[in-house]
Amino acid sequence: MKPKSPEEARLRTILNSMVEAVFVTDEKGRVTLTNEALDDLIAKDVRGRRAKNVIKSKELRVAIRRARKKDKATDVELETEIGDRQHTFFAQVAPLPQGVGVVTVLHDVTRLKDADRIRRDFVANASHELRTPLTAIRGFAETLLHGAADDPAARDRFLNAILRHTMRLQRLAEDLTLLAKSESPQHDFVDAPTDVRAVCRESIASLDTFAKKKKIAVRLDAPAEPVLVVTSARALDGALINLIENAIKYSPEDSEVRVAVSRDEDTVTIAISDDGPGIPAKYHERIFERFYRVDKGRSRDEGGTGLGLSITRHLVNRMDGTLELESAPGEGTTFRVVLPLDVPGEDD
Ligand SMILES: Nc1ncnc2c1ncn2[C@@H]1O[C@H](COP(=O)(O)OP(=O)(O)OP(=O)(O)O)[C@@H](O)[C@H]1O
Ligand SMILES: [Mg+2]
Repeated sequence: MKPKSPEEARLRTILNSMVEAVFVTDEKGRVTLTNEALDDLIAKDVRGRRAKNVIKSKELRVAIRRARKKDKATDVELETEIGDRQHTFFAQVAPLPQGVGVVTVLHDVTRLKDADRIRRDFVANASHELRTPLTAIRGFAETLLHGAADDPAARDRFLNAILRHTMRLQRLAEDLTLLAKSESPQHDFVDAPTDVRAVCRESIASLDTFAKKKKIAVRLDAPAEPVLVVTSARALDGALINLIENAIKYSPEDSEVRVAVSRDEDTVTIAISDDGPGIPAKYHERIFERFYRVDKGRSRDEGGTGLGLSITRHLVNRMDGTLELESAPGEGTTFRVVLPLDVPGEDD
């Protein structure tokens, strides 16, 4: 619609430069004016429609009526579905002068709310993970003090349990540090030409004892010539260790884990495959969340904290790569780290 006057053109430009979604309703509650942010949010032209059918929220309906009938402005927080996405808005609803309608300004605070939930979950999970071994250590120490230390068999059992839980705590502290580092933009992983095959060999070697204990052979399948990527060898090593460790951990004894390096014109792919139980599709996103484990009991028995994959995803992001997952129950699991190849001269 073309603006009718310079005044209207000015108003429209101002409205369209706002990040908040804005709409005006008339005395019948019909939308008479929208800005681009609102059009983008709803993804269609809603002028002429009733506001209550556009944003379905009782709180908003009440606030708009209040502005119209009582000439009062209100701020409300509301949750509503738009398309098939759940949104949280902070809405400011105000009557326009001379009773010509009501203006509603919607601040989309969905992401802020999500971030807040993730932070709260993180703190709750972290304190739970700390408390569990601490409670156990305290219990074993008290039992030892109360006489169990006199029985050599019991003493050894309790001391070993204390040691096991202490190692868990240590592992948790290390994982949290690595997670913080991988998330922090300040932490510089140093980029240098890196032979991906060599990093794979190192990561596999550092898990040798663990693999042997489970009688698992880790096989590397890589080109005969160096596969060079400009990246941080440390970040890559961190990501691969997590993925290979998972492959070993969740595989049956006597099976094989495969690490395959391949390249095409613009990417290098490292695929880590196992013949383990596989991961049902409904968990494919969740396992990347901090502390998330499909089978809590099993992971904990293995000394896991559920931080491995979230650390890995951050590390791969830091390398400008992508982390792909292909897995189904009974069909094993393949994780792929896909790294971009630097085309010489492209950045300069
Ligand atoms: N190769 C795999 N096969 C089957 N399940 C897997 C595999 N890799 C990861 N998972 C599932 O994803 C969950 C999350 O993995 P993640 O590496 O983040 O945590 P973890 O291995 O339990 O603990 P941590 O890595 O901190 O020791 C695991 O608990 C497991 O349920
Ligand atoms: Mg893991």
